[in-house]
Amino acid sequence: MTGGEAEPVIRIDHDGPLEGEVRVPGAKNSVLKLMAATVLADGEFTLTNVPGIIDVDIMSQLLRSIGSTVESAGDGSLVIRHEGELSTEVSAELAGRLRASINLLGPLVARFGNIQIALPGGDDFGLRPIDMHISGLEAMGATCRFDAGILTVNAPRLRGADIRFSFPSVGATENLVSAAVFADGVTTIYGAAREPEVADLCNFLVAMGAQIEGIGESTLRITGVSRGGLHSASHRVVPDRIQAATYIASVAVAGGEVDMVDAQRNDMQMFLRRCSEMGLTFSDLDGGGLRVAASKRLAAVDVQTLPYPGVATDYKPLVIAMLSVADGSAVVTENLYPGRFKYVDELQALGAKIRMHEHHAEIRGVPRLQGASVTAHDIRAGAALVVAGLAADGITTISGVGHIDRGYDDLVGRLRDIGAGIRRD
Ligand code: EPU
Repeated sequence: MTGGEAEPVIRIDHDGPLEGEVRVPGAKNSVLKLMAATVLADGEFTLTNVPGIIDVDIMSQLLRSIGSTVESAGDGSLVIRHEGELSTEVSAELAGRLRASINLLGPLVARFGNIQIALPGGDDFGLRPIDMHISGLEAMGATCRFDAGILTVNAPRLRGADIRFSFPSVGATENLVSAAVFADGVTTIYGAAREPEVADLCNFLVAMGAQIEGIGESTLRITGVSRGGLHSASHRVVPDRIQAATYIASVAVAGGEVDMVDAQRNDMQMFLRRCSEMGLTFSDLDGGGLRVAASKRLAAVDVQTLPYPGVATDYKPLVIAMLSVADGSAVVTENLYPGRFKYVDELQALGAKIRMHEHHAEIRGVPRLQGASVTAHDIRAGAALVVAGLAADGITTISGVGHIDRGYDDLVGRLRDIGAGIRRD
């Protein structure tokens, strides 16, 4: 958007079932980490199935700002090149715009022995500390210092260590695996995060020559190879389970039957189980993907968020939007980010009956919501408002669309393709 242009809004005026086919793009929470991990080796990397989202643009700018070349080759692929030294001073302005900027920490320290980086930005749903990233690096021999919001890490040599997480942090697992690829000896991470996007990063690192055992499990064992021992690689980004869930939630409230090409059933089992209990049906597509069908009003089902393989916190706004029009009452409990309920006011403005008790939301379903003007405050909240708009009579107008653009590849276009009354103005 250039100066003088009005901020975009999404308008929804929808009635009737959704039908057709939608392709699920690559995962934001994988591609950003893959891009960061490329700094571990020289050469040319090609990432395919890259989603067209703003966060990829910001990570591209971050990589360029430290000396990499990043080019979009069209057709959803990204070519990244670097040769030799890269700057380890990361732009505070760019880092402040992207939570995943912190994913440069492990790779840059591993390869170049130091980094200066501002504390990461990203969605504002409460305190998001990085103490586990820091204590893991310290256990591997790094010295870490905070000064005026800037983290400085020095580690001329990292050594393998036993690291025990009290909580399976996604970002800390990713950073410490990346840090460990060149460490002297073996690093074992107990209680590691098991999310499909973490496994995708590990598989990419292995394709680059890293030695990692236990991928997808809660104990990861990384045997350091010599610095310079990794090489460039090509990789297809894992499909985005949260974008897939957004299309599922849309069908859930509007009814209908949609084929989601590339959706990965195995990556979203617990979420699908809850959706089945609510009354949705799923079947596998020939050639990969999932068909979702909704033929009746949803039933209310209690849901709580947990680290993978539990129901991810990122699904929760979608789940609350679904339950807002379900038959009966249900409680949704947030166990990861107690502050991640900001969109509840907006759903209430659309007529949802939600009562908050600390980190529990009690939702009493109503048959239909009512269109109104609402604002998206973060990516997933924005998606939930779109889903709610599909379940509303009258016109729903959503501002704060920039948040949705950070993580969704043409959500409006894809929903239009399956018959949704939605447009972007
Ligand atoms: N935590 C700590 N200390 C740490 C690290 C984490 O206390 O050192 C706490 C956090 O404050 C939070 C919880 O642990 O309460 C989860 O943090 P985690 O590190 O697992 O999450 P993250 O890496 O910061 C990623 C995704 C989030 C997603 C979470 C949980 C990216 C860029 N972000 O964040 O995605 O919600 O994992 O699955 O991968 C989104 O895509 O909308 C999004 C917010």
